[in-house]
Amino acid sequence: MTPSHALWRRALLSFALLVSASFVGVFLLGGGRADVSGGGISTGVNAPSLTSQDSPTAAGQLAVGRTLFVQNCSSCHGIDASGGNRAPPLLGVGGATVDLWLSSGWMPLAEPTAEPERKPAKFDRTEVLEIVRYVTSLAPSFDNPGIPVGLDISHANVAVGFSLFALNCAPCHTITGAGDALADGIQAPPLHGVTKTMVWEAVRTGPGNMPRFGPGTLSSAQVDDIVGYVVKNIQHPVSPGGLSLGGVGPVAEGFVGLFVGVGACLLAALWVGDRTETDEDGGQDGQEGHDGPESPDGHEHGPGGDDHSELAHA
Ligand code: HEC
Ligand code: HEC
Repeated sequence: MTPSHALWRRALLSFALLVSASFVGVFLLGGGRADVSGGGISTGVNAPSLTSQDSPTAAGQLAVGRTLFVQNCSSCHGIDASGGNRAPPLLGVGGATVDLWLSSGWMPLAEPTAEPERKPAKFDRTEVLEIVRYVTSLAPSFDNPGIPVGLDISHANVAVGFSLFALNCAPCHTITGAGDALADGIQAPPLHGVTKTMVWEAVRTGPGNMPRFGPGTLSSAQVDDIVGYVVKNIQHPVSPGGLSLGGVGPVAEGFVGLFVGVGACLLAALWVGDRTETDEDGGQDGQEGHDGPESPDGHEHGPGGDDHSELAHA
């Protein structure tokens, strides 16, 4: 080949590599926050044991929670949590509901007529658990779930989670999890800053105007996949599989697809060119490692990915 031909080909190859590499780079840096800890975003939410359901309800054990409840909740919910004209009863609501409403800062309200809104939790984790323990000791919760213990989303299939989220959650929370105004002034809040436990609890209890997704609607594994998707991809949009694209929307996705695709085509063309000419650039092929994230969803869970979170009857 002539020197200028070789030069041209090299330039083209560099361009192709640059385009592909820069987009890989965008993926990796785009999220800003690297989630080194894998699935763990814990802010102490999964503090070792809640056991709201299994502990003997000795009066002494409930004293702390009872005091907190009387000081902060009973003015509206009643001393015995049986409700009144200021607030609904809390008897039998289940540990997950009480935990969610406290962790999200929705409770305690300043006034009965105020809209619950997300704010920093008033109580630390231990206090929340004490209040949950007290409230759930007052009446059986039957089908209402307790706080999930040992919620492990490390094996969550985020591709499946993405599909389930798109179907079940995005209509209200939007596909990016940014939240949206619904009818009648109702707000579906943004899903940034919620912990995995809160996502699980919201899905299983259906707070306020959100529908409840019980075991008949979503299996434990499916809930884990959704929680995994929200926590890993919506909140930390860095993922080796490229699923973080869900966080930037279809336009950017098409854009990225275009560029990665163009890069791939150029590489392929150059590779073919190589084979028909000399082998001077041997070893440059095989650069493309982009597996489409939307490939068929094998729903695979690691060992024990199944049954860890269902703790009914708190
Ligand atoms: C100023 C009154 C007020 C105080 C104080 C208050 N709440 Fe509430 N609470 C309400 C009202 C009103 C609602 C219903 C809100 C709604 O559905 O939008 C509610 C709802 C709840 C719910 C959801 C119940 C359900 O069935 O979905 C929980 C759980 C709860 N409160 C727990 C607490 C706890 C625990 C405390 C104390 C730390 C507390 N609240 C303090 C007024 C209050
Ligand atoms: C019909 C609309 C709707 C759908 C569908 C829906 N949500 Fe919600 N979601 C809401 C609303 C409204 C709230 C606020 C709760 C309230 O009204 O007090 C909420 C609250 C939440 C919260 C708590 C946020 C916070 O600020 O603490 C999480 C987490 C959540 N939703 C996740 C999900 C997930 C995951 C799905 C899909 C499985 C889903 N939601 C489906 C409307 C919806």
